[in-house]
Amino acid sequence: MPVPPQPDIPAHVAIIMDGNGRWAKQRGLPRVAGHRRGVEAVRTATYAARDLGVKILTLYAFSVENWQRPKTEVGALMGLLELYLKKELATFVRDGVRLRTIGRTNELPAGVQKRLHATIEETKDFTGYTLVLALNYGSRTETVDAAQAYAAALAAGKEKPNDRSWATFSRYLSTTCLPDPDLVIRTSGETRVSNFLLLQAAYAEFVFTPVLWPDFTKADLAAALTEYARRERRFGLTSEQVRHPVGVRTP
Ligand code: IPE
Ligand code: IPE
Ligand code: MG
Repeated sequence: MPVPPQPDIPAHVAIIMDGNGRWAKQRGLPRVAGHRRGVEAVRTATYAARDLGVKILTLYAFSVENWQRPKTEVGALMGLLELYLKKELATFVRDGVRLRTIGRTNELPAGVQKRLHATIEETKDFTGYTLVLALNYGSRTETVDAAQAYAAALAAGKEKPNDRSWATFSRYLSTTCLPDPDLVIRTSGETRVSNFLLLQAAYAEFVFTPVLWPDFTKADLAAALTEYARRERRFGLTSEQVRHPVGVRTP
């Protein structure tokens, strides 16, 4: 197996943005105030990642499980999302940020979908930097959707039954055409994955930080990248193999 290159800067960083509610509670504010500040942190992180050399930033913004929250909170989150997309479109176009989504976006409110489609369409040709929003996303639903689509393709003769490769199956995931995340960060001190990129993060590095999402700064992201650079990714190999790949002469 070829040893993947290990640059110090992760090409793809994915963040589980957590702690908006606690940030608000600490200040005696309603939860939605935390979400509002969370949107500011999204803006900061979007440009911080790009400035630090990251090529793709995936942000977990709303999970399939989050629909179970109080109706007023879900409504506020959808409202904030629509407003965010409305405000950001011009900025994304100006700054060359390509927007993509993962998740069952067809189940989002019509207004949000409209904004998403417009922004994705207007930014689709940018190649330098990509922001991926995980919206109504869950790894399990994504896997079910992929399995269904793959089964249909097999039945239609578009895929070969004897091709049991990950490379083929993974094209049916919503992350198709995106490389796997190299680094997954979760804020707010929780150390769980909460149904996020379970398959794609198979060999990702994880960094957990106690910082609540609304407080997350460029310095916090830089610290996570520094931690990442200290790690040795082995992909199932031995440390010696990683350091001295077979067939590659070391100086
Ligand atoms: C993350 O913050 C935002 C979403 C999940 C939409 P939370 O709202 O989960 O904040 P906590 O975990 O209650 O503090
Ligand atoms: C994960 O956060 C989902 C998002 C960040 C969108 P949650 O706050 O929903 O996760 P749990 O419930 O604590 O696992
Ligand atoms: Mg939470």
